[in-house]
Amino acid sequence: MRLQKYMADCGIASRRKCEEYIEQGLVTVNGEVALLGMSIDPDTDRVEYDGEVLKKDRNSEKVVIMLNKPRGVVSSCSDPQGRRTTADYFRDLPYRLYNVGRLDIDTEGLLLFTNDGDFAYKVMHPSFEIHKTYRALIDGELTHEQAERLRHGVMLDDGMTSPAAVEGISVGENDTSFYIRIHEGRNRQVRRMIDAIGHKTLRLRRVAVGQLKLYGLHTGEWRFLTREEIDGILNGK
Ligand code: URA
Repeated sequence: MRLQKYMADCGIASRRKCEEYIEQGLVTVNGEVALLGMSIDPDTDRVEYDGEVLKKDRNSEKVVIMLNKPRGVVSSCSDPQGRRTTADYFRDLPYRLYNVGRLDIDTEGLLLFTNDGDFAYKVMHPSFEIHKTYRALIDGELTHEQAERLRHGVMLDDGMTSPAAVEGISVGENDTSFYIRIHEGRNRQVRRMIDAIGHKTLRLRRVAVGQLKLYGLHTGEWRFLTREEIDGILNGK
């Protein structure tokens, strides 16, 4: 079995992230620094990451959790500045969970956690085209032309964005709110798209991942997903 697949099965991170850990020399197999591309035998090889020997059976029950992340909470395991992190919500659970993607500190809403590396990989990798829907509140009026620019794709410093769906536009006196649906997951992508068309983001909340909606969870609340909900995200049902 490929080393990165084994690591993902043990709940370390997505396969892609595990490849990075291997490349960075953070993983050993039987005491030797592992090389990218190597295969291991889970029954006989001893794999260590971050000073811990990996065990597959420890996380044999795969779970996916949905959190309604509040603004001001950092999407990571720890924060050098001592701010509240998403991992703080799950300290008492017997799972080694990690974020399925991230929301920036100012963004609220639907964030998933899992110990299933394959699930995380599929949700995060743009090739699976699992859409993420946000409700954005921006300053001023979003014009028809600006909405079209978002739909078409805008040029950011890391390249052109894929076409986005922009719907439910509601123009207020001094601001506009609308839904924007994208399937890429670049850093602060929605905020940067809104910057690129000349507006400021006043509030950003992720309201859906694939078919899964945030309904029913107050800010700071979380719950386990059902098998149907997990399959629904992956199969687009
Ligand atoms: N786009 C952003 O700007 N921030 C997020 O957290 C997610 C998408």
